[in-house]
Amino acid sequence: MSGAIRPMPVMFNPLSDGFMEDPHPHYAEVRRHAPVHEHPGGFWMVSRYEDVEALLRADLSVDKRNAGGSAGPARPPRLKGLALIDQDPPHHTRLRKLVSQAFTPRAMNGIEPVVRDLVDKALDDLGRAGGGDLVDAFAFPLPFAVITRILGMPKIDTVRLRELTSLLIRLGEPGAGSGGKADIEAADAELLELVSDAISRKRQDRGDDLLTALIDAEDGGDRLSHDELVAQVAMIYVAGYETTVNLLSGGILALLRHPDQLSLLRGAPELDRNAIEELLRYEPPVHLARRITLRPHRVAGHDIPAGSIVLASLAGANRDEEFWGPDADRLRLDRENARRHLSFGGGAHYCVGGALARIQGRIAIGELIRRFPGLEQAGEVRWNGLLSLRGPAHLPIRL
Ligand code: HEM
Repeated sequence: MSGAIRPMPVMFNPLSDGFMEDPHPHYAEVRRHAPVHEHPGGFWMVSRYEDVEALLRADLSVDKRNAGGSAGPARPPRLKGLALIDQDPPHHTRLRKLVSQAFTPRAMNGIEPVVRDLVDKALDDLGRAGGGDLVDAFAFPLPFAVITRILGMPKIDTVRLRELTSLLIRLGEPGAGSGGKADIEAADAELLELVSDAISRKRQDRGDDLLTALIDAEDGGDRLSHDELVAQVAMIYVAGYETTVNLLSGGILALLRHPDQLSLLRGAPELDRNAIEELLRYEPPVHLARRITLRPHRVAGHDIPAGSIVLASLAGANRDEEFWGPDADRLRLDRENARRHLSFGGGAHYCVGGALARIQGRIAIGELIRRFPGLEQAGEVRWNGLLSLRGPAHLPIRL
């Protein structure tokens, strides 16, 4: 033995020290030293911007049943595997067409006044409270109210709904292990029941809203089974708030940590649109997208075998110096190409609600920082410990 110490190979490890507080240095290490990373846990991870973008556009599957190996289908799918995010063509194409009709740019334009009204009310409440936990007092209730209003959701047990969705999200995390199978099935069944009941009530009390439009699409052309309809609505409901909460709280935290950028934005409302893109790039709410190879797939000279799980590191790609330049790690609200971030994914599964999230982010963050010029952090942030939907769980603020 020569006695020389061999360096440890770089490995993606979300359990490493400090990861949850700031995972970006860790992503940078993996991207630099193992851009196409074969993980001992039985999956692959791709981190360079160019590779991630290409992967999202490639003909890969999102259906867990196609995965072999140890990281394979040990856990049951959420929403019975019927939500469009878990479906491949031709089912995906059919469902996507139907669902995206409700999210056209024109439909979204009509939503702006609704969002403004709800932001105003939420800020009035926050102002009366004088501060508190930004997540509980603002970042959560606002997107929840917006998606409930847009869907025209009948009264539903919102406390239970949130408990169930956060349980499903937690159990679906990479690294959550194969335990909790019965818990997932039970939470999934209860969530579907809750939404199914709301849909039944909506049939009796129709409105000019997204839920009625989706019900009509089912009744009219026999295109969505009842189970499929329930799964799409549950998915839109959850995706509609659990992600946007983190855009608002993570985005505001990033501004509080960069006072120069905060004051720049306060004085320049014309920057609002670009600022949301840069905040999405810098602190993306969704860090990973998962794909499964149907046949051997080549990425940057590496052969990934068929049946492999491949994680696309959206957060890693968003800070790749090769694409963004040497200041990739800096928050720069006037970054010209900020909109090219991969925080909404790419290819066939590109986020359906991107326009809605952008409207909410722009109005909520712009109004908040201008209405309360004394806004400041009033204590330590606590992160939610998730990667699929990462954000602050608690962020104490003073106004
Ligand atoms: C900041 C907020 C949001 C972020 C960061 C985000 C992120 C994403 C990402 C990364 C994907 C692609 C996942 C993949 O490729 O595997 C996705 C898909 C999706 N998102 Fe979003 N999302 C946000 C807001 C919303 C909202 C507000 C809605 C609905 C109201 C929504 C509905 C969906 C749906 C239905 C899909 C599945 C699309 C498909 O599979 O074809 N999202 N989102």
